[in-house]
Amino acid sequence: MRDYTTTTSGSCPLVFGSPQGYYLVRDSAGIYAFNASCLHQGGHINPTQGGFGCPCHGSQYDLNGTVTQGPAPVGSILQHYQVTESTPGGVLVIDPSKPVSATTRLT
Ligand code: FES
Repeated sequence: MRDYTTTTSGSCPLVFGSPQGYYLVRDSAGIYAFNASCLHQGGHINPTQGGFGCPCHGSQYDLNGTVTQGPAPVGSILQHYQVTESTPGGVLVIDPSKPVSATTRLT
C-alpha cells in the first residue's frame, strides 16, 4: 500500500503521492509519466489545451511537465517516473519508486 494524502484547500484539490497523482503521456518520442502535483503548493494539475494547468493559483505546464507560468518556478519540471510494459504490448506500469529524467521515454 502506498502512503498518500488527499485534502482540499478551498476549491483546490491537493494530492501528494496519490496513486491517481500521475499523468501518462505520449509524444512523438514515446510514452512517459510524471507527477500530477503542482510544484507550487501541491495542487492537482489538470489537462489544458496544449499542456496542464493548476486550478489553485494558475501555474501552467507544458506537455513534458515544465512550468511555463508561475507562481510555480518557471522552468522547473515535474518529476518523471519509469514506465514499463508488464509484457510486450501489455499493461503500462508507472513505478513511482524509479524517478527518471524528463527526456526518458518508453518506445
Ligand atoms: S498549488 Fe498550483 S499554482 Fe499554487
